[in-house]
Amino acid sequence: MGKKVAGEKKKVVLAYSGGLDTSIAIRWLQERYDLDVIAVAINVGQPPSSDDIIARAKVIGALKAEYIDVKEEFVNDYIWPSLKANAMYQNAYPLSTAIARPVIVKKLVEVAKREGAKFIAHGCTAKGNDQVRFDVGIFSLDPSIEIIAPMREWVMTREEEIEYARVNDVPIIVKKESPYSTDENLWGRSCECGILEDPWEEPPEGAWEWTTSPKNAPDEPEYVEIMFEEGIPVGYNGKKKDGVTLITELNKMAAKHGVGRIDHIEDRLVGIKSRETYECPAATLLITAHRGLEFLTIQKDVLEFKRTVEQKYSELAYNGLWFGVLRESLDRFIDETQKFVTGSVRVKLYKGSAVVVGRRSEYSLYDEGLSTYAVGDVFDHHSAVGFIYCWGLPNKTTTKVHTRKKK
Ligand code: ARG
Repeated sequence: MGKKVAGEKKKVVLAYSGGLDTSIAIRWLQERYDLDVIAVAINVGQPPSSDDIIARAKVIGALKAEYIDVKEEFVNDYIWPSLKANAMYQNAYPLSTAIARPVIVKKLVEVAKREGAKFIAHGCTAKGNDQVRFDVGIFSLDPSIEIIAPMREWVMTREEEIEYARVNDVPIIVKKESPYSTDENLWGRSCECGILEDPWEEPPEGAWEWTTSPKNAPDEPEYVEIMFEEGIPVGYNGKKKDGVTLITELNKMAAKHGVGRIDHIEDRLVGIKSRETYECPAATLLITAHRGLEFLTIQKDVLEFKRTVEQKYSELAYNGLWFGVLRESLDRFIDETQKFVTGSVRVKLYKGSAVVVGRRSEYSLYDEGLSTYAVGDVFDHHSAVGFIYCWGLPNKTTTKVHTRKKK
């Protein structure tokens, strides 16, 4: 693409965070590509910005600036499907950053359509997963859109960016420099860089922001009862809650007990191993509870097969293939498995752990008559012998044949 587009100015929709990178990107997109910038700030539950970022985008020179709250959509269309899939990348990371990208992408594409913009810009760098999630997400939804990633193109250090802002009169808020790079939304907080780049170093207390250190957590455990309907949490402790409220409140409750701290060496899609810490209090609590209810209500072969589906699902979400036929098809399978995942789970929160201590469901497959060792046993003991004969027969046959072989 050429530097300057001749004729009427074309438009670019920019994913705008209000930070240094995307603030100078507004000016940079105008200068380098001669585009009109529509800045879009999307709220997925990150802490509110301290100033009016929309007004600031306009001051910097955006043609339009928009703030879109997508928390509800994020919960219903991204978090709940992921929870039903017990989605954890590499069995460790509840994908909090990863699943927020597709909802942001969806909004950017919607705005681009509405505004007749042919370009979308985002502030991802060339080394991470997020650029893949943005780029692939955007062209999966609309193959005609061209993507500009200023941070992949310019080679400015932070100091040079500040200098660029100064020279170009871009008003920025230079925050106290943190050693960490972080990302937050309703489903969790990601933190990398600084001392964390040494995988041998224990994350210092300052790397954690949401959670109380288990050491300082209350000495008394707290019990919480999560109510599920068809795999989706609908309330806790007897009170119904909408999804955003439920997650917000459970984040606080679990964080108070130091629940949801994760320290992981992760395989990025671009081939790099990276060390990242996550704080996902509600996600940890809810995935634990959801699994607990599935063990009670889903039969063995479905549970086992679902584990492989869950792993595949997590990889698709992590690797930027959310908007794809395979993920959508797996969702249909998972939804089918959730029809009877209705009931309550009691979880004990204590000093960094969330443990299932009770579960009940009108569709419980647990049959006390079958499992009891006490009176009331209805299991047919005689059938065990015949079953074991057949079950072990291949092993018995193989051993007989193999032992015939001369040494
Ligand atoms: N590694 C995580 C992922 O790819 C989080 C990336 C963003 N992390 C950050 N600290 N900015 O999903």
